[in-house]
This record gives sequence, C-alpha cells and structure tokens, in this order.
Amino acid sequence: MVVRSTPHAPAAQVVRLNEPAAQLEGVIVIHSTALGPAAGGCRFWSYPSLDDAFADAARLAEGMSYKNALAGLPFGGAKAVLCRPDGAFDRRALFAAFGAAVERLGGRYVTAEDVGTTVADMEVVAKATRHVAGLTPGMGRAGGDPSPWTARGVFDAMRAAARLVLRSELEGRTVAVQGLGNVGSDLCRRLAEAGARLVIADIDPSRCARLQAELGARTMDVAEIALADADIFAPCALGGALTHSTVKRMKARLVCGAANNQLANPQVAAALLERGIVYVPDYVANAGGIISATAEYLREDLAEVAARIQQIGPRVAAILEDASRERLSPAIVADRMAERIMAGASETPGQAR
Ligand code: NAI
Repeated sequence: MVVRSTPHAPAAQVVRLNEPAAQLEGVIVIHSTALGPAAGGCRFWSYPSLDDAFADAARLAEGMSYKNALAGLPFGGAKAVLCRPDGAFDRRALFAAFGAAVERLGGRYVTAEDVGTTVADMEVVAKATRHVAGLTPGMGRAGGDPSPWTARGVFDAMRAAARLVLRSELEGRTVAVQGLGNVGSDLCRRLAEAGARLVIADIDPSRCARLQAELGARTMDVAEIALADADIFAPCALGGALTHSTVKRMKARLVCGAANNQLANPQVAAALLERGIVYVPDYVANAGGIISATAEYLREDLAEVAARIQQIGPRVAAILEDASRERLSPAIVADRMAERIMAGASETPGQAR
C-alpha cells in the first residue's frame, strides 16, 4: 500500500497530543477531508521517539485516505497514534483525555480501534465524544469487532482474483495463510468451507494446532510460509511480508491477504510484476473493517455493510483487469483510482476542506 504514483502529500492537519497529567502523548494526523470527515483508527504502541510515532501516523493516515476513497466511503483519511507510556499508567484517564482531544476537532476526525486499542478503550473515548466507532453494537446495527467483515472482504477479493489469475474457483486450490489471528483464522474457515486446501503458520503454535485439528490444515514453519508450494499466499500477520528476497523464491502466483502494508518497500510491487505474481493491493482487500466502522458511525444497519463489502470482489477484478491490460502493478492502478476519486471531490490528497 506504500506505492504512490504521486509525490507524498503533506498532512493537512497535525494535532500534537501532550497532556502529562493523563500520560497522553501522541499525534492525530488528518491527511485528507476531501471526501468527508477523516476516519482512521487509534494505534497505541511503544515508539522509540515522538518522531517515529509521527512518521507512523502520517503514513497510516495517507493510507486511510486511499482505502476510504476506493471503498466508496464518504470519509477522508486520518490516524491517531498514542505512545504507550513506560511502566504503570491509568488507561482510563489516558483514553478519556484522547476522547476530549477528538471532541475538540468537532467531527473533523472520527476514531476507532487499531493495533493496541480495544472496544473497552473506545467506550471510554465515547464518553467524551460521539466521533468514535468500534463500540458495542446495538441489535441489527453495524458495529463491534470488524474482523469478520474484514475476513469476508478478503475472501471475496481472493475468489475474484483466483477467477482471473488462476482461471478457477478456490475449491482444490492451496492457500498459504500467514497469521491466524482474528482475521486469518476466520479467513481459513471460509476457505475450508469453499474447498480450498490450507497451509498455515503463526508464531503462536496453539493457533496452528487448533486450526490443524479443526480444518485439517497443514502447519508450516513461520519462516517458510511465504515460500510454500501454494497457489495463493495470504499475508494476515503484520506488515512487510513481501520483501525482494521472498518474492524471488515465492511459488504462489497470487497474493491476497488482510495485513496492512504488505510490501516491505514500494519497489517490491515491481518485483512481483516482473515475476508474474499478481498482488491484490492490501487496502482494497482489507477494507471490510473500515466499512463496518464507518457504517456504525453513520448509524447504518448490517445490510448496508454487507452491500458495500460485496463491491470488494468486483473492484478487485476491475483493478486486476486494468493492471493486466496496462502491464502495471495492481498497486499503481489502485492508487490511481483512489486519487481520481479524491480529485473528483475537487481536491487533491493533502488539502483539507
Ligand atoms: P491479530 O493480532 O488478531 O492476529 C495477528 C496474528 O499474526 C496473530 O495470531 C500473531 O500471532 C500472528 N503473527 C504475528 N507475527 C507473525 C509472523 N511473523 N508469522 C506468522 N504469524 C505471525 O490481528 P488481526 O486483527 O487478525 O489483523 C491481521 C492483519 O490484518 C493486521 O496486519 C491488521 O493490521 C490487518 N487488518 C485487520 C483488520 C481487522 O478488521 N482486524 C482490518 C484491516 C486490516
């Protein structure tokens, strides 16, 4: 998701968070409000320095602009990054202070969970602001854990891509899944149900053992999973699964997974193209989570979430067809499409209304 065909756009607004009394230290980066309020989760993580936290927030906020635009959402992109304090801290006080900071932006930024934050944290944030999603859902309403929606979108993306690239359904195909957390394990169940053969890996052996027993999946070493003798590689752990060295030795012809930032650097997209390995851009496949969160914010129901997620498969097919016709990486084609959508709102990424 890091390949950009335009120069890196400057952030539209950077809000420094520094409230020692609540041990709140971090930043909210609003990248674009071209399409609506800027939506993106809140990451709570240990960073070596504030500069590192800012760099992470800026990169993630830009990614959210592209993801939201291409998912057809009426939202711009943003991200909050909070530095996890060393030692003991009052989690409630910290997230209450963060909620107040979100409220001061008056709806320009909508937050939700990301790495390191939970539904309970967002419930605390919600006491200070209504510009938050990822709360416990009401009956029939959108909301709560977005992972099943993300898994459903990734499955649909993979099926659409397999039809084009492998000229087949997923039945009988071998899929190597890296990372068996909330999304990866759900994806494995969907794949097994569709008749795919599974090869799995996770740094937590108990997760492998569970899915091996439940689905008859074959476990592989985490260092080898990307190189498995499989038709499809599905990165569902952390970012950076696709490096130059991995791409050189991969056997899969298709990559489609949930992890954010799968390309270790932008040049890896070209390496994949050169080897004839088709890459489904991560932010196109994994949009189910933000689709669910933004629907919750807009007080939509589950049918509306499902309808938006159903568009992921056809969108992937359109991107792969354009990429094949123009002999470009699908990453470049997806970015271009997102940029057109943002420009169509009479604004380029980086400039806020
Ligand atoms: P999770 O934290 O539940 O699962 C991640 C899994 O990866 C864990 O089981 C962990 O043990 C495993 N793992 C970590 N490093 C590994 C390695 N080197 N090799 C193999 N396994 C490894 O996370 P979740 O929610 O399942 O998300 C997975 C990925 O999808 C993340 O990159 C996340 O940013 C992305 N994503 C998730 C969304 C969601 O709705 N949960 C939405 C959009 C993106």
